[in-house]
Amino acid sequence: MLSSRKLFVVANRLPVSRVRRGGEFHWVTSPGGLVSALVPALRENRGTWIGWSGEGKSTLKPFKHEGIENVPVELNKAELEGYYEGFSNATLWPLYHDCVRPPEYRRSWWSTYVEVNQRFAEVASKLAPDGAAVWVQDYHLQLVPGMLRARRPDLRIGFFLHIPFPPQELFAQLPWRSEILKGLMGADLIGFQTRVGAQNFGQLARRYLGARGRYGVLSFEGREVRYADFPISIDFRRFDDIARTPDNAKRIRSVRKRLGEERRILLGIDRLDYTKGIDSRLKAFRDLLATGAVDVERTVLVQTAVPSRERMKSYRDERDRVERLIGEINGEHSLLGQSAVQYLRRNLPVEELVALYGAADVMLVTPLRDGMNLVAKEYAASRPDERGALVLSEFTGAAHELYNAALIINPYDVDGLAAAMLAALELEEDEQRRRMVRMRRVVSGHDVYFWANSFLEALAA
Ligand code: F6P
Repeated sequence: MLSSRKLFVVANRLPVSRVRRGGEFHWVTSPGGLVSALVPALRENRGTWIGWSGEGKSTLKPFKHEGIENVPVELNKAELEGYYEGFSNATLWPLYHDCVRPPEYRRSWWSTYVEVNQRFAEVASKLAPDGAAVWVQDYHLQLVPGMLRARRPDLRIGFFLHIPFPPQELFAQLPWRSEILKGLMGADLIGFQTRVGAQNFGQLARRYLGARGRYGVLSFEGREVRYADFPISIDFRRFDDIARTPDNAKRIRSVRKRLGEERRILLGIDRLDYTKGIDSRLKAFRDLLATGAVDVERTVLVQTAVPSRERMKSYRDERDRVERLIGEINGEHSLLGQSAVQYLRRNLPVEELVALYGAADVMLVTPLRDGMNLVAKEYAASRPDERGALVLSEFTGAAHELYNAALIINPYDVDGLAAAMLAALELEEDEQRRRMVRMRRVVSGHDVYFWANSFLEALAA
């Protein structure tokens, strides 16, 4: 049984970050589903989380925060550039997201990626007691399962990839493709967001490593490696509970009042990343305004975007592109006191997010590629009133689960996207309800606790 084993999570980032309050530094738990999903499992198993603190070189000692042991892994400036910004976010991130930007292949980044993965593996292998379970997270640490296995064959090792796993035609570009596959194959169980991602992995492991087997189980170097899809989710109850409060009803009324009572609201909520297709939805909205299909007196697009990875040029360029487009649309179409696009470049507290979800007639989730996209699921969880419509890119993991409830679009097809936005604005109430009930059933039945438990149970089996 896994619950009798000690659990270690190994992830790029720790589940906490340091904030300065009243001249002193404090640790606060980071928001987000992954952290809230794993915290109960870690508490129950007296667990430990190993990760980077998000800070430059420092000599932080392990510390306990809210019942969880945190073990910081240090990264110096060169490592941050080679491992995180370089290999993880300028090589793997675009490669795994359909090459929507050209991946850069640099040998020096690869060496740093190997070194840093080695450090995470060393820390885990030193700390984990005999027979412990170690759950490695995401694309930054794909070599860790293999490195751990070499040092500590007694451990139960799991790996979960939060982003898409690409098909052979793309993955084959990677000069270190066999090394990455071998690294992953060190795990007992490998989880992907979708079945397609898992299938891609199975094909590649057979082709480049000579692994044998059927879907779900491979044999390699005398061991069995299992792999499957485990679609990640959100804390449904948390969003649903907030959405049902009288305060939320007040906040929704206030959002509607401020934006204009008679205006329909289209909403986008994203990390500012070039994979999110923010420009596609802006272009589609611009076309709807230009043709007169919608007008600013009766429609507004609210776009919130959380700045991300801003040390990287590709991210700064994306921000410029999005902001230029918003400036153009507003310049052409806004009226005095009524902007066509309301743009908030910041992180919002969860209560404000839930109120925006609750006020939105149409939610726009239009990535060019996305492992899952939790915004789509948060929208459904925030609508106990069973109203609203979701326009969802077919290139998200979420579309694999919500395909018969959302309006599915191709974000490269701006005309098709504009037509779907219009259809969503015009959706009859009965139809909105029918679709929303389905979405909520899917998300509440498969929340983030279900995700973590299914993975950990499969790992223990
Ligand atoms: O979706 C992948 C992911 O790495 C998430 O785990 C994370 O929350 C997000 O991207 C932001 O990434 P970063 O840690 O680079 O800021």
